[in-house]
Amino acid sequence: MQKFATLFSKALSEKISAVYSVELSPEEIADMLEYPPDSKMGDVALPCFKLSRTLRTSPVQIASGLADGLEFPEASRIEAVSGYLNAFISDGYVITSTLKGLVDEGENIGRLTDGVGKTMCIDYSSPNMAKRFHIGHLGTTAIGNSIKRIYEFAGYKCYGINHLGDWGTQYGRLAVAYERWGSREEVERLGVKELERIYQKFYIEAEKDPSLNDEARAAFTKMENGDEELLAIWRWFREISLKEFMATYNLLGIDFESYSGESFYNDKMDAVVREIDEKGLLVESDGAKIVPLDDYNMPPCIILKSDGSTIYATRDITAALYRKKTYNFDKCIYVTDAGQSLHFAQFFKVIGLMGYDWEDQLVHVPYGKISVGGQKLATRAGNAVLLTDLFDEAISRVRAVIEEKNPDCENKEEIARKVGVGAVLFNQLSTGRIKDINFIWEDALNFDGNTGPYVQYTYARTCSILEKAGELAEPSADLELCADEKEMISTLARFSERVRQALEEHEPSVISRYLLDVCHAFNRFYHNCPILRASDEEKSVRLAICQVTRNVIGNGLWLIGMEKTEKI
Ligand code: ARG
Repeated sequence: MQKFATLFSKALSEKISAVYSVELSPEEIADMLEYPPDSKMGDVALPCFKLSRTLRTSPVQIASGLADGLEFPEASRIEAVSGYLNAFISDGYVITSTLKGLVDEGENIGRLTDGVGKTMCIDYSSPNMAKRFHIGHLGTTAIGNSIKRIYEFAGYKCYGINHLGDWGTQYGRLAVAYERWGSREEVERLGVKELERIYQKFYIEAEKDPSLNDEARAAFTKMENGDEELLAIWRWFREISLKEFMATYNLLGIDFESYSGESFYNDKMDAVVREIDEKGLLVESDGAKIVPLDDYNMPPCIILKSDGSTIYATRDITAALYRKKTYNFDKCIYVTDAGQSLHFAQFFKVIGLMGYDWEDQLVHVPYGKISVGGQKLATRAGNAVLLTDLFDEAISRVRAVIEEKNPDCENKEEIARKVGVGAVLFNQLSTGRIKDINFIWEDALNFDGNTGPYVQYTYARTCSILEKAGELAEPSADLELCADEKEMISTLARFSERVRQALEEHEPSVISRYLLDVCHAFNRFYHNCPILRASDEEKSVRLAICQVTRNVIGNGLWLIGMEKTEKI
């Protein structure tokens, strides 16, 4: 339903219900109202056939009776057309109710109260240590951050969790690789890049000498049993990795409430495995311990491998139980690529089978795969675009544009950073999350058309108009609104509806697309309706529109994790 017409519809239903006080409540009437797609049919319409049975009169008679008899100054016109009562909202009413209401919401515009008193956890980004951050991680990082903000905006208490991939046999391999081919100096000098190099070397060498794999497994078992020497090196690698990840998080303005990764659950898994066993769910299969899920059309969930070690799923089950206990969440969301959907479905089911009634509070939010220039992403194929390179490139391109167009601009660096990062984020968040993305440098760095910079630019434009305008007056009700003004008001009035849709669908692109609608409408309005040169009455309304536009774009940008800038 259009918020534009919400108050109007409410008032109209009350009026109509008063005519038929005995038979129909205002709520019943409100349920019957429709919003004609074509504005020639009114802003709100009552299909009178819905009343004809109760009133034992024909729809045509009901409609014309109402059109003639109803006193309703909020409408500029009320017409009966073939059994429909069509009502047109008066401009004065749009200004004093809708526009004024939006102005009064101020910087809280669009906020919801759905989540007040509720708690959610969101597990996102969660990269694996000892690997550099590449565009494969952009989806979970950007989408997760935006979903977290949308929930916060809806009143939820949110805990962002970075479930770092910092445990598993691969860190046994890394330990072996470091011992054989690594050096402290090189790791200190090159950081994660060097860890990646020795890790890749492990694979090449293990092809020739498979006994390396046994060595790696043994090393990881030692780590699981608390070997201090190996753990000290592992901690060091973890720290180096986190430091590099933090650089990107800082650039994006992201922080997590918890960085407890997979290793955090090392000493908590025994009890959980025992619990699964005690509940009669654990079955032995080829030496491994599994929970069969045939009844749910899924392959079994492996809990312990045949060598007795735990796996990804064991840690996730343990983490879910821990989070429930620690945060008492109403919802726990996991953002990863769609390739992991089965893993989540499996371990959610195990939680349910363990007898926990909150299985359905666990939600996997998948997103599509990313390829580069049509090719599958693979670190080993060397086509994994690093996030630091991507953002650096975006920032330096914006810097060059500013240098050229506006060399005297203050805060060049800050603006270049905000706009460069924004371009990349908006590009990621403007298509539905489940769609596969083929990463193309030129698209991610495009600043024209439907892009992040275009939205930031429109925001800056509203700021500069408002700055020039100075003190704002109350919007005058004695004005006939033009089509662009009406379009603008009705677009702005849809913001909170869009926020709710984004929340329900876990879909940041709903916000990005809406922002483009707002910017297009605003730029049309700005082009067709002079603001500062207008009469006082027009000016009061147009500036109010500008002000609400600024607040809506400002909040919308925040919701998708972008920064705003008052000058570009
Ligand atoms: N580290 C994993 C990866 O890079 C993502 C972890 C997602 N979170 C979770 N609780 N499983 O694919």
